[in-house]
Amino acid sequence: MSPISDDMKAVDAVIRARLDSDVVLIRTIGEYIVGAGGKRMRPALLLLVAKALGYQGSTHHLLAAVVEFIHTATLLHDDVVDESDLRRGRSTANAMFGNAASVLVGDYLYSRSFEMMVESDSMHAMSVLSAATTVIAEGEVLQLLNVHDPDVSLDRYLQVVRYKTAKLFEAAAQVGAIVAGASQAQQTAAATYGRHIGTAFQLIDDVLDYTGDAEALGKNVGDDLREGKPTLPLIRVMEIGNAEQRQLVQDAIRHGEGDFAAVAQAIRDTDALGYTREAAVAEAELARQALAEFPASAHQEMLLSFCAFAVERDR
Ligand code: IPE
Ligand code: IPE
Ligand code: MG
Ligand code: MG
Repeated sequence: MSPISDDMKAVDAVIRARLDSDVVLIRTIGEYIVGAGGKRMRPALLLLVAKALGYQGSTHHLLAAVVEFIHTATLLHDDVVDESDLRRGRSTANAMFGNAASVLVGDYLYSRSFEMMVESDSMHAMSVLSAATTVIAEGEVLQLLNVHDPDVSLDRYLQVVRYKTAKLFEAAAQVGAIVAGASQAQQTAAATYGRHIGTAFQLIDDVLDYTGDAEALGKNVGDDLREGKPTLPLIRVMEIGNAEQRQLVQDAIRHGEGDFAAVAQAIRDTDALGYTREAAVAEAELARQALAEFPASAHQEMLLSFCAFAVERDR
């Protein structure tokens, strides 16, 4: 992160300052989840795109903090919806403080981020970020409809991935280009880069839910299967598996229970994780190609290396 380490520090300072509230529980939960860290990929993307396209000012710090606030709000809400108890290596906020407090502090972070967007004084950035927030909510609701449904198609799955995860990466990169006053072609390239890297990121997240290490990831693995979520590894088994494998996975998705060891074996026998990883590699390659619109720089290099990280990550 060396090309943007000072910028990342400035973003952290904005985040901490804007978590401040007279209401103690807001500060407590805000600092609890922010203090646990997080990779800060979305703000980094925004800063790197802005710098790669020649930005010199400091509004990007505010907007990068907005993006991290929106992300944090989605995590607070998501962990309630998913009934998760581990996030960033700690008990989730819902496990520590309860569902009601998590939902309300998530709302607070959304509201705070809207205030900050207005301060940025960029109607264009505001329009992109507010639209992205709507799409993320749509993605989470769409996913809710897919749970326990073994007939979810690849298209329906990919729509959820684009909405719930890729959209914020897309918005972050696009806003970086907007704040830099980049050309229309560069703004489009930035958005394309963000959309594809965000898609790769979620595809790998869905692989890591089967293969990852809870310690490295800081969250529990195996949740998707337990919750009956039809992610790509399972969709792939149903596509190419034999009748028995297909039935096994359909039952697991319908009931969120069943013979997990047999499901894991079917996933291995069909190389469904390898297939999902290949799909992520293809998305990362599209992200890489979009960066051809950017002039060469240390920041562009860093954006390129994010393409590899999105696929190779273990955390
Ligand atoms: C988690 O995102 C939610 C997904 C989209 C999979 P990150 O993996 O970026 O979470 P943090 O911020 O690093 O904890
Ligand atoms: C993360 O979704 C939340 C959003 C992208 C809105 P998931 O439920 O798939 O991710 P984790 O595993 O909890 O981080
Ligand atoms: Mg979740
Ligand atoms: Mg979820």
